[in-house]
Amino acid sequence: MEKLTGKLALVTGSSRGIGQQIALALAKEGCHLIIHGRKKDHTSKTLELLKPFNIDVDVIEGELSSKEDIQKMVDQVKAKHNRIDILYNNAAIQSPNKSIWDFKIEDFDRLLQINLYSVIQLCQAFAPAMRDNGYGRIINMTSGIKDQPNLSPYAVSKAALDKFTQDLAFELKDTGVLVNSLDPGWLKTDLGGPDAWDEVETVQPGALQLALFDNDGPTGQWLSAQEIRKSINEK
Ligand SMILES: NC(=O)c1ccc[n+]([C@@H]2O[C@H](COP(=O)([O-])OP(=O)(O)OC[C@H]3O[C@@H](n4cnc5c(N)ncnc54)[C@H](OP(=O)(O)O)[C@@H]3O)[C@@H](O)[C@H]2O)c1
Repeated sequence: MEKLTGKLALVTGSSRGIGQQIALALAKEGCHLIIHGRKKDHTSKTLELLKPFNIDVDVIEGELSSKEDIQKMVDQVKAKHNRIDILYNNAAIQSPNKSIWDFKIEDFDRLLQINLYSVIQLCQAFAPAMRDNGYGRIINMTSGIKDQPNLSPYAVSKAALDKFTQDLAFELKDTGVLVNSLDPGWLKTDLGGPDAWDEVETVQPGALQLALFDNDGPTGQWLSAQEIRKSINEK
């Protein structure tokens, strides 16, 4: 039986990569979707893959480096829907790869805007209605990156995202809104590159599991999709 029938999810960065996998997994559970890319036409492949499912799919575009674009996304969603049930903050960029001494503050600014401030803006826009409705799942895509000073702006953005996730989870404790971080693992995507350890499909079933938690499920947690997959395979 489908487990998310009638629910509505916004998945940022679902035009390709991990976000596309997440959109597909949610669709298989009967979840209506709002898919997103920087431009609407970037989502054509995802739209094609979603055709077999009996769900409603909206497409929004928005450049997460722009606060105005993010506000437009929010306004468009709110004009059509009085709430969303699942907010999957998946979109992000990698930083340039260079010596930690050579990063400019502008490098950090850009990574923080796209990978962190956009998530804060979207959570502030959508989480209060989830709270009032007594149901919501917010999943922020993080990273297990460590000891890579050559990618420091990216690592810093994800560390700060984890902290924000914990704070928001605490704020929403016992309201029916769960807020968690998911580390997908190192996956072969445009961001992960061809040398990554695992195929993009291995983000499942972990990525879906966080959306399926019951209201008394984990919140404020940092969870690993690869660990979830291994533990399920071992059963
Ligand atoms: N792949 C890995 O090994 C890995 C490891 C750890 C964590 N992660 C995290 O997993 C998430 C997804 O990564 P991925 O590997 O699937 O990346 P990806 O293949 O590069 O896809 C990135 C997605 O984000 C969107 N996006 C990128 N820049 C954007 C911007 N400025 N404004 C709006 N949307 C933007 C892209 O939309 P367009 O198609 O329109 O560009 C695309 O849908 C990210 O949060 C990443 O940090 C990935």
